[in-house]
Amino acid sequence: MVFNPKNQMVLILDFGSQTTQLIARRIREQKVYCEIHPFNIPLSKIKGLAPKGIVLSGGPSSVYDQGAPTIDKAIFDLGVPILGICYGMQLTTHLLGGQVERSEKREYGPALIEILKDSPLFKGLYKEGATYKVWMSHGDRIEVLAPGFETIASTESTPFAAMSHTTLPIYGVQFHPEVVHTEIGNDILKNFLFEICRLEPIWTMHSFVESAIKEIREVVGDRRCICALSGGVDSTVTALLVSKAIGDNLTPIFVNNGLLRKNEAETVLGFLKELGLSVDYVDASARFLKKLKGVEDPEKKRKIIGEEFINVFEEEAKRIGKVDFLAQGTLYPDVIESVSFKGPSATIKSHHNVGGLPERMRLKLVEPLRELFKDEVRQVALELGMPEDLVWRHPFPGPGLAIRILGEVTEERLAILREADAIVIEELKKSGWYRKVWQGFAVLLPIRTVGVMGDERTYDHVVALRVVNSVDAMTADWTRLPYDVLERLSMRIINEVQGVNRVCYDISSKPPSTIEWE
Ligand code: XMP
Repeated sequence: MVFNPKNQMVLILDFGSQTTQLIARRIREQKVYCEIHPFNIPLSKIKGLAPKGIVLSGGPSSVYDQGAPTIDKAIFDLGVPILGICYGMQLTTHLLGGQVERSEKREYGPALIEILKDSPLFKGLYKEGATYKVWMSHGDRIEVLAPGFETIASTESTPFAAMSHTTLPIYGVQFHPEVVHTEIGNDILKNFLFEICRLEPIWTMHSFVESAIKEIREVVGDRRCICALSGGVDSTVTALLVSKAIGDNLTPIFVNNGLLRKNEAETVLGFLKELGLSVDYVDASARFLKKLKGVEDPEKKRKIIGEEFINVFEEEAKRIGKVDFLAQGTLYPDVIESVSFKGPSATIKSHHNVGGLPERMRLKLVEPLRELFKDEVRQVALELGMPEDLVWRHPFPGPGLAIRILGEVTEERLAILREADAIVIEELKKSGWYRKVWQGFAVLLPIRTVGVMGDERTYDHVVALRVVNSVDAMTADWTRLPYDVLERLSMRIINEVQGVNRVCYDISSKPPSTIEWE
C-alpha cells in the first residue's frame, strides 16, 4: 500500500463548540491528520473512516435538552480510543450510565486542577500536590461517573475534572485542552495521540505535497485544467501543485482587474515566472473600470466585479480550447460540514470568487487544499519554494481596492489609494508589524477636509488606516500599533501622497464592524 499519512487519522465529532476547529489545529500541529465531522454521521461512516482515535468536542447543549446532540452508544465498543471534551465528557457519562446534573450557572474561566493519579493521559504531568491552570467553560456538571470510570483530576469546584475508564481507552476532560489558557493542553492532547492512540507524527507538509501531486495526476490524467491566479498564497500554491502534477496541461489565468495594488501585477508575474509557472495574463483593467463608472453602492460594485471576472475568465478559457478541470484554492474551514462555525460574513457581503463557473462551463473541480488550514498552506508554500514575501502576504479581497475606495472608483482615486497602501505595507514591514497582524491597509474616504500646507489652504482627501488582529477573519480586533508607527504612517501618507491631507485610525472591532469597509 502507498504511504498515506491520512490512513492514520483522528476523527473529531463536532457538537457545536466554538473551539472544535481549534482541536483540529492542535492535533495537526502534532503532525497527525484529523477531520471534523458532524456528531450525527452514521456509525458505518465512522467505521469506513477507520480512525485511530476519536475526539468528542464540546458544545453549547445540555445532555437533557430536547433534541440534544448525541451519538450511537456503539461507538464506545469500537475499541478505538476516545477523548470526550466538556460536552463530549458529559455525553459519554450520560450514555454509559453516569449522572449529569443540570446547572443554570456556567463555570467559565480559569481553574486549577490537581492530577489525582498517574494515567496515560497525564503522562509526565503527575506530581503529588502539583496543580495546573486549565480553562473551563461548561454549564452542566457530572455528579456520578458511569460504571467502570474513575476520576483522575479534580478542581475545587469540579470533583470530576478528568476521568478515565479503568480497562478501556476512554477518557474525558471537563476543561478545554485545545485553548492556550490550559497550560498543559498540548501535553494532554499529545498523550492522547501518541500514548493512547499510538499514532505517529507523520502528517507533514512534505508528505502532503507528495500525496497531493500523485492524487491530482491520477484524477486529471492528461486532460486540461485551468485556474485563476491572484498572486495570493492559496491560489498560487494550488497552481504550483497542479502544475507539478500535470505540467503544461495546466493554464493558470491571471486577470488584472485594474483594482490591484501598486506594481502588483508586475511583481506577481515576476515571481510566478521564477517559480517556473507560465501564466496567461489578461489585462482587463479598462473593462472593469468602465463597468464601475458612476457606481457607488458597495454591493453593486462587488456584483459587477464578480460578474465581469467570470466573463473575462470564461472568454479566456474558451480561447484556450477544451478544458475539463478548474483548480481552486478552497481551504478546509470552507468545507467543514459543521454545527459550529458558519460565520455570518458570507451573507453580509457577497464574496468574490469563481462561483457558478464550474457548472456553467461544465468543469470538474480540483481542490488540492481542501484538507488544509491556512497555516498549513503557508508551510506547503515554503516547501514548494515560494518567496517568504508572498507566503506571508496579507489577505487581499477579490474586488481589490474597489471596496477600499468608498464611493465611485476612478483612476485618480485608485492612484491615491495605491500610493497610500504601498506606504502602509512598507512601514508595517519596516517596523516589524506586518507579520504580527492579520491585515493592514488604507481606505480612501468619500469626503474632503480642510488643511493647511505651507501657507496654503488645502481641501483634500482623507485616508483611514485599518490594521487588525484576527485568527480566521470571522472576528477581529484593531491592532494597538505604537504611536510612533502611527505617526510615521500618517506623516508619510500626508507628505508623499498628493491629494491627501488627513489620516485617521480605525478603532472598531469585528463584530460589530467588518474588516473591509465595504
Ligand atoms: P470582512 O470585511 O467581511 O472580511 O470582515 C473578512 C475577510 O475576507 C476578506 N474579504 C474578501 N476576500 N473576496 C475575498 O477573497 C471578497 O470579496 C472579500 N471581501 C472581504 C477581507 O479582506 C478579510 O480578510
